Amino acid sequence: MSQLLDPMHRRYIESLGISRDARVLEIGCGNGSMSVWVAEHIASGGQIVAVDLDLSLVDDAHASRVEFRQGDIVAGPVDPGCFDFVTARAVLHHVADANAATGNLVASLKPGGVILLIEPDFLPVSVAEPMEIRTFWNGWFAWGRERGIDYHIGRTLAARLATYGLAEIGGAAETAVYNGGSPWADYWCQTITELRGDLVGSGKLNETLIDTFLAHCADPVDADNRVYGRSRACARP
Ligand SMILES: C[S@@+](CC[C@H](N)C(=O)[O-])C[C@H]1O[C@@H](n2cnc3c(N)ncnc32)[C@H](O)[C@@H]1O
Repeated sequence: MSQLLDPMHRRYIESLGISRDARVLEIGCGNGSMSVWVAEHIASGGQIVAVDLDLSLVDDAHASRVEFRQGDIVAGPVDPGCFDFVTARAVLHHVADANAATGNLVASLKPGGVILLIEPDFLPVSVAEPMEIRTFWNGWFAWGRERGIDYHIGRTLAARLATYGLAEIGGAAETAVYNGGSPWADYWCQTITELRGDLVGSGKLNETLIDTFLAHCADPVDADNRVYGRSRACARP
């Protein structure tokens, strides 16, 4: 995910004018790649705190540049009112209480700081072709709902931020359109293969639909049947 999504996340951060001495908070940092990049390229004179429920993917070599903390953003804010820049990517769609998590992210911001949220919104797959690919995605959403994952949360980000009285709220979405055999297709092949047992066991997808999806993902000339959306929202208190 970091290889696929870091370039977009970096572009958005670069456009925000974060100062060199900023205090930065990343929630749900995963392997920490974004926080390490921010420490090296954006806030090299500041303080970078990266929080995740599970820090097992973080390379210890990065610990000198970034302060990694194990924590749960649903449970409470991190250093309330202390951060110039707060960001979270691909986290809110997984949490049990996205309202609590968003409130805690906002509460970590300093007045005048900026928050950037990036989450998926799979709206574009509603027009994926052929029909069996759309059927696959509908099964995927049903499986996700059962596991408390909201694959359409992206469209709600700007509205969520508005409830905290933030200013200069902006939202945008972009869609990846990719061929079979591309990095995005490989990501989905690996993800679906890893989850195959659970997907079939849930009754929301069957072996045939999964095989069809994987075959399309492996076909390099089949470009127009996979689309994948992701939304962002950004605001200042
Ligand atoms: C899909 S991964 C995304 C990782 C990374 N942000 C990225 O986009 O590559 C979701 C991450 O959020 C973390 N996470 C999930 N719920 C969390 C919570 N309540 N508090 C903090 N981190 C959480 C997970 O442990 C995981 O590392």
